[in-house]
Amino acid sequence: MSKELVMRTIHISDTHLQPLSRRRNSDKLEFLLRRALDEGFDHLAITGDLTNNADLEGLRALRDILRGHGLLRSDRTTVVPGNHDIFGTVKGVSDLLRFPLLCAAVNVGDRLRRLRDVLGDLFEGATFLSPDRPFPFVKTVQGVSFIGLNSNAAYSKITNLFASQGGIKTEDLDGIGRLLESQGLSSRPKILLAHHGPPKNGRGRGRDREGLLQRLRELGVGAVLHGHIHEMTGGRRDGIVIANAGASVDNGETDVFHFNEVVYDGRLGLFRVSLRRVARPAEQTSGLSGRLTARWKAGNKLQTVCEGG
Ligand SMILES: [Fe+2]
Repeated sequence: MSKELVMRTIHISDTHLQPLSRRRNSDKLEFLLRRALDEGFDHLAITGDLTNNADLEGLRALRDILRGHGLLRSDRTTVVPGNHDIFGTVKGVSDLLRFPLLCAAVNVGDRLRRLRDVLGDLFEGATFLSPDRPFPFVKTVQGVSFIGLNSNAAYSKITNLFASQGGIKTEDLDGIGRLLESQGLSSRPKILLAHHGPPKNGRGRGRDREGLLQRLRELGVGAVLHGHIHEMTGGRRDGIVIANAGASVDNGETDVFHFNEVVYDGRLGLFRVSLRRVARPAEQTSGLSGRLTARWKAGNKLQTVCEGG
């Protein structure tokens, strides 16, 4: 790849689209994408909880929004699933007892294959570990390899009663390592996409943060993009950019949205990440402007509010 390459990836997450509900988030996502497209970017990464209820309507809404913005293309967009895309959500207190039973009955493989079928354009040119499993996969765009994982843990009434747990699995990384080698991609810059990020500390079963970071370094992963916890964070740990975009649109605000901007600089061989905010003008909102909106009305431009790495 060219050492002159600068690749700009927009990272959002947890869009929780639910077209049949009032809290549908579609209008927020459309506004965010329009503003990001005005500025220009190379690739869009969405790290799970694409839908709120694991339904076809949510997937189709995302497909239509991406198509409407010229982003329903493998070289423009990459997505991975979140727990809401597989198991859906508890729909009120009366659902609390029923939800675990529904989760136990979900065929995870079918849900993942349905996601790949509806958003099939985004998987063109991807290489899979197994033809029956849409995740993990590797896809290379402009010389940068995107690794897409399903980080959701299997349902368990003991350890995963509400089906929200998960993490980056080392067996997936081992498989991806073999795949990268066989494809001659080991030396490419790599971005890993997963719904669940690395654990925040190294304690407990399945929470070996240092071991995981070491394995990611061995694979040459330069950036880990994730969501799940609805907050925006970005920074560098042991040379790896780690960014969460969980509060992109599902953030309690009516007209302030966020994304992470992840730039790969081929001259330096480095990723860097910035947190960005976008405010919707008052005339385009429902009149429910929040506190943050007032602060952003003055300029209403994309601005960098913090930088990690
Ligand atoms: Fe979420």
